[in-house]
Amino acid sequence: MIKTVEWRAGAVRLLDQRKLPFTEEYPEFTTYEQVASAIKRMVVRGAPAIGVAAAMGAALAAKDIETNDTGEFLRQFEEALAVLAATRPTAVNLFWAIERMRARAKSLTGRPVAEIRKTLEDEAHKVYQEDLAINKTMGENGAALLAAGDSILTHCNAGALATAGGYGTALGVIKAAHLAGKKITVFADETRPWLQGARLTAWELMKEGIPVTLITDNMAGHCMKRGMISKIIVGADRIAANGDTANKIGTYTVAVMAKRHNLPFYVAAPMSTIDYSLPDGSHIPIEERASEEVTHIMGGQQIAPDGVKVFNPAFDVTPAELISGIITERGVAMPPNRQTLAVLRTA
Ligand code: MRU
Repeated sequence: MIKTVEWRAGAVRLLDQRKLPFTEEYPEFTTYEQVASAIKRMVVRGAPAIGVAAAMGAALAAKDIETNDTGEFLRQFEEALAVLAATRPTAVNLFWAIERMRARAKSLTGRPVAEIRKTLEDEAHKVYQEDLAINKTMGENGAALLAAGDSILTHCNAGALATAGGYGTALGVIKAAHLAGKKITVFADETRPWLQGARLTAWELMKEGIPVTLITDNMAGHCMKRGMISKIIVGADRIAANGDTANKIGTYTVAVMAKRHNLPFYVAAPMSTIDYSLPDGSHIPIEERASEEVTHIMGGQQIAPDGVKVFNPAFDVTPAELISGIITERGVAMPPNRQTLAVLRTA
C-alpha cells in the first residue's frame, strides 16, 4: 500500500511527492512548523492528504507545548493551528481537520495537559484511519457507476497520493472497478504546471497494474471527440452546498468538453470536502501560486522570457450543472444540487 502520510513515534513521515516518479523518499518532520512548510511546498498535496497531515501537525504542536496550564496550552495550540491554516486556502479538508483538532482540544478544557496531548495524538490517528476507510467505501460506491471496458479520463492526481494512502478518491473508484474485474483503462491529463497527472497518477496506476495512457491537457477534447473516452472522474478540493466544485486548474475545461460530447462527468470526494457553509462556488477561495511554476518546468528549465507577466490560479470551479454525480462515502448525489447534497449530510 502507498503510504502518503504516517505518524512515526512523534514525527510525521511524508512521501515527498515533488520527487516522484524518480525517487521514493520519506522525510520525517518533527515540528508543526515543518509540517506547515511541507504542505505549502507540495511535499504532501491533495485535499484529504493535506487534512491528515494537518491533523498530525496539530498533534506534533500539542506534544511540544511546554506548559502544564490548560489555558496557556490552548492559547499556544491555537497559534499553531493558525500557522497550519495559513498554508493552502482552497483545500477545505485542511480547515476541516484543524477544526476537528480544535474542537477536541476545547472539549477537554480543564483536564490535565498530558491527557489533552495524548487525546490529540489519538484524534490525529483517527483522522488517518477514517480517511483510509472512507476512501475504500467511496471507491465501492463509485465503482457501481462504471461498466466493463470503460475508458476513464482523469485530471490531476486524486489517488492514494492525494489521501492518507491506500485507495484514493477518483482513482479509488477506478481501482475498485478494476478489482471487480471490469477491465478499466485510464487516460491521465498531465496537469500543468505541477504535472500531478504525468508524475503521480501515471506512477500510481502503473504500480497498480491499471492500463494508463498519458496525454497533455490540451489533448483531452480531441480524445473525447474521437470516442476514446467513455466517462470522466476527478477529485475535489472544495464542494459548495449547491454542488459547485473546486478542483485542480483545468478541471472546468474538461467538464465543458464532457458536456459537449455527452459524457458522464463524476466527482469523487469525502464528505469532509463538502463545505456546506458556502452557498455556491463563487465563494470558494482560489489559491494563486508563484509565477515560477509557470515560467519554469518543475523548478528547472526556464521556458518563458524573463519578466513575463503570469497568472497562476491552482484551482478552478466547475458548476454543478456540468457534474453528473458526486460520489461520497455516504452515497452518490445525482444530480448534485442543494437537495441531494443535503440528503447526504443527514444520511
Ligand atoms: O495542488 P494539489 O496537487 O494539492 O491539487 C490536488 C487536486 O486538485 C486534487 O484533484 C484534489 O485535491 C482531490 S484529491 C483526492
